[in-house]
Amino acid sequence: MKLSLNVNDQQYNLDVDADTPLLWVIRDHLKLNGTKFSCGNGLCGACTVLLDGKTVRSCSYPVSNLKNQKITTIEGIDSDHPVAQAWNQLDVPQCGYCQSGQILSAVALLDQNANPSDAEVKKAMNNLCRCGSYPEIKKAVDLSTELKSKGA
Ligand code: FES
Ligand code: FES
Repeated sequence: MKLSLNVNDQQYNLDVDADTPLLWVIRDHLKLNGTKFSCGNGLCGACTVLLDGKTVRSCSYPVSNLKNQKITTIEGIDSDHPVAQAWNQLDVPQCGYCQSGQILSAVALLDQNANPSDAEVKKAMNNLCRCGSYPEIKKAVDLSTELKSKGA
């Protein structure tokens, strides 16, 4: 099928099979390798990207489901974004494999809820981290909230 994609504010025109998972279009066709493959079953969140600001697990999302949404990958998050700043300041990643998905989940959370409660953070930040960096991720979400409220 012919695909017209807006990814990180750039337009791409492609021709791919309708059942191709969005992940492989992003990685193989667009060469944006910050989005990771892990479980391939929609369970871990390593492949998280944003569609119109909402998280989606791109390994399990066929491109035929797209409806002209704007797609954001980790490459579309500037280093001065409050979430990126917080992650950087707190040195969150261990191996780093899950982190692009974690960061995009935090971006989506704060866009929808400027001051999430601990329970709301826990519910939204449901990506897996094999390194167990959950305490650092929680601290970084809290710092992101603070930085965002100060207009960082
Ligand atoms: S690789 Fe997509 S959810 Fe795990
Ligand atoms: S930092 Fe290693 S899997 Fe999360």
